[in-house]
Amino acid sequence: MPNNLLTNSNARIIAEVVVPCRELDQTLSFFVDQLGFRVEMITPADNPNTAIISGYGVRLCLRHGGTGENIVVRLHTSDRKAQTLQAPNGTTIEMINPNVGVELPELCESLVVTPLTSDASWTVGRAGMRYRDLIPSRLGGVFIASHIHIPSGGPVPDYVHYHRIKFQMIYCKSGWVRVVYEDQGEPFVMNAGDCVLQPPEIRHRVLESSDNLEVIEIGAPAEHETFAEHTITLPTPTVQPDRDFSGQRFVRHVAGQTPWLPWRFEGFEARNTGIDLATSGYANAMTIRAKKSAVFAEGEHQNQLMFMFILSGSATLETGNDHETKQLQIGTSVTLPSTLKFKLEVTADDTQFLLVEVGSSN
Ligand SMILES: [Fe+2]
Repeated sequence: MPNNLLTNSNARIIAEVVVPCRELDQTLSFFVDQLGFRVEMITPADNPNTAIISGYGVRLCLRHGGTGENIVVRLHTSDRKAQTLQAPNGTTIEMINPNVGVELPELCESLVVTPLTSDASWTVGRAGMRYRDLIPSRLGGVFIASHIHIPSGGPVPDYVHYHRIKFQMIYCKSGWVRVVYEDQGEPFVMNAGDCVLQPPEIRHRVLESSDNLEVIEIGAPAEHETFAEHTITLPTPTVQPDRDFSGQRFVRHVAGQTPWLPWRFEGFEARNTGIDLATSGYANAMTIRAKKSAVFAEGEHQNQLMFMFILSGSATLETGNDHETKQLQIGTSVTLPSTLKFKLEVTADDTQFLLVEVGSSN
C-alpha cells in the first residue's frame, strides 16, 4: 500500500466504516446524544436512510438495512470510564480509557509444580520459538511464566515494541541473546544467569540469539498487550539508566559481575539481581545456590507470587501439614501460595534455582 495513504495528514478523511441499522433514527440518536458523535451528512432529506457521523477519530456511515450486531466499535476516551454499551442496531461499543493504569485481576493462588519431562508440552510460537507454560492456572490471570526455547539461533524477526504491564522480567537460562532497550545505550548480550527487568512501556527489541537459547519470562498481568513502536528507533541517542518508567527502573543484571552473598537461610548463597531496588521493593529476583542437604523453609509468605525454577541440581519440596513431597529436577518450576508451609531440601551439590517474589498479598 502506498505510504502516503497512511501518513498524509493533510488529506481529507475519506474513509468510513458502514454500520447497518434497521432503525436509523434510534441508532443515530444513540451515537449523537449518548456518545457525542456529530452529524456530518444525512440523506435523503425527506426520508433519511444514510447518516455519516464522526467522533473519537472515526467516521461511521449509518445505513438503513440489516443489523450491526456483528460489529464492535472500540472508542478511546480519557473522560469516560471503561464500559461496554449496546447501540439500538445491535452494535457493541467498547469504551476504553488508555490512560488508566494496568490493573491486575483478583489473585487465585494455588500450588503449581511444573516438571520438565520428556513429554512436556511445548507450543510453537512465531519464528520457531517454543513455549512451555510454567503456570497454566495463571493464578487467576495475574501472572504468566514461560520457559522459552529458540532451537536455531540467528537474527530474531522482532520489531521495536512495548508492553502495558506491571511486572516483566527475562532471565537467561542458557545460550545468549542480544537485545536493545530504550535509553539504555547500545545493544548488549545476555548470557546464562543474566536477567533484565523490563519496566512498564520501555521500548525494546530482541535482535539475535544463539542456538538453543533458553529464557524464563515472568510477567503480570498474564494477558498483556504488545504495541508496535513506529516513532522511536533503538538504540536511542540518549542514555538514562535511572529513568523512571511508572515507578520502576530498567535493570540489566550481569551474573558474572555480581558476587555471591550469604542468603537468609543458612547454607545458601544468593546473587541479587537488583530488581528489588529498581522496583522499590515491589519485586525481588535472585539466583540461589546451595550444596546438598541445605534446607530452605518458610511458613506463610507475603507475596502475590513466589516462584522458583530449578536451574541445576535437584531438591525435594515438602508442603502442607501432611508433608506431601515432590522431587524437583532441572527445569522444574514451583509456584507457592502464600498460606502454604513448605520446606525445600537440596538433594545435589551445586544446586541452583531462580527465586522470584512479586507484589504484596496484603
Ligand atoms: Fe517484549
